[in-house]
Amino acid sequence: MKADLETPRIDRGLDDVYVKETKICFIDGEQGRLLYRGYDIRDLAEHSSFEETVFLLLQGRLPNRAELERTKSELAAARTLPPSVLKLFRSMPEHAAPMDVLRTAVSYLSGFDPERADSTRAANMRKAMRLVAQLATIVATYERSRKGQRVLRPDPKLGHAEDFLRMITGKRPSPERARMMDVALILYADHAINASTFGAIVAASTLADLHSTVVSAIAVLKGPLHGGAIEAALSAIEEIRRPEAAEEYVVNALRNKQKIFGFGHRVYKTYDPRALMLKEYARKLGDLQGDSTYFRIATAIEETVVRELASKRIYPNVDFYSGLVFHGLGIPSDLFTPVFAVARVSGWTAQVMEYWEDNRLLRPLDWYVGPKDLEYTPLDERA
Ligand code: ACO
Repeated sequence: MKADLETPRIDRGLDDVYVKETKICFIDGEQGRLLYRGYDIRDLAEHSSFEETVFLLLQGRLPNRAELERTKSELAAARTLPPSVLKLFRSMPEHAAPMDVLRTAVSYLSGFDPERADSTRAANMRKAMRLVAQLATIVATYERSRKGQRVLRPDPKLGHAEDFLRMITGKRPSPERARMMDVALILYADHAINASTFGAIVAASTLADLHSTVVSAIAVLKGPLHGGAIEAALSAIEEIRRPEAAEEYVVNALRNKQKIFGFGHRVYKTYDPRALMLKEYARKLGDLQGDSTYFRIATAIEETVVRELASKRIYPNVDFYSGLVFHGLGIPSDLFTPVFAVARVSGWTAQVMEYWEDNRLLRPLDWYVGPKDLEYTPLDERA
């Protein structure tokens, strides 16, 4: 370690810094391509299910029919939570933010995990499946419990996405809506070493347990520069109210140096392929509801941002249209980021387990620029 040498290059934001090799996720930010384990996200969105994607991310290959059925049954069986979780929810302060509840519940559940003291790869794989299953039920159960509604038990006959939506809204979604939820979970399942995955990996690098890595990731995901952007993007659409008002809103916001949430990305310098697919779903949901006002506001925002920020290559990211999709599926806006976590837990756990195959403690350096050699003043002599 260097001390008192010339100022080093400081990688603020760690842009362009590689910290590991991976075989899980590939992003081409220039071409707008995203691959999970070598498969194009567009193919997975068209042909796959969330359960199949979970298997793919965790196991590194597509499952055969029997493996897929086993994955579905394993997730379905693990969706049920210990009954005391409901007591935990009831003990949380009224209006607790769902992301805070989710983070707390994952910590709480770590103590119930039947293999909490086992950190072998096989045990971690099973824990990962339990976490994927449980996050969905935590979010749905908290939603109904905070509203004083009857909490629905998981239905093991239903697919993960369909059951998740049913447990939130209280009614079984149409096949079309269930499929939209399924695809949204696929699109959010992984995204290389984004901020929350990095948070998980920093925890993993100390050899903390899998539950702790997910708690870390949830904490990092919460911020509006990351997962919190979905809710902020929908708030802007709600605030604008009329498509004709969108252009002026964006121009004013940019003039005041405000960020437009749901736009821009550290890696993509073109359209995020996930945003393109979600935009189509947002359009369809507007048509199904017979009211496409929000969709028209969103497209007007998009046109203005892309035009005004063309030189900075700013385009919609995954979080811009997903809020409209979740809203159209009947999910309240403060659950959007938790829904992101419900999907991304598959990527977090896959990435953490891959990191453990060649673990190294993550311990960067910071360059000290404060004073040195200050003389200690006794308390009575200080002004
Ligand atoms: N609105 C307005 N201007 C923007 C936006 C935006 N959404 N995004 C970037 N810019 C501008 C910046 O102001 C900056 O301009 P400058 O060079 O004149 O200072 C330039 O584009 C580069 O932006 P940075 O913020 O430096 O780029 P960075 O790589 O750090 O940004 C980030 C990535 C944080 C996502 C940014 O685009 C942003 O804040 N977007 C809004 C929040 C958001 O949507 N987050 C979700 C990201 S996707 C996800 O987490 C799943």
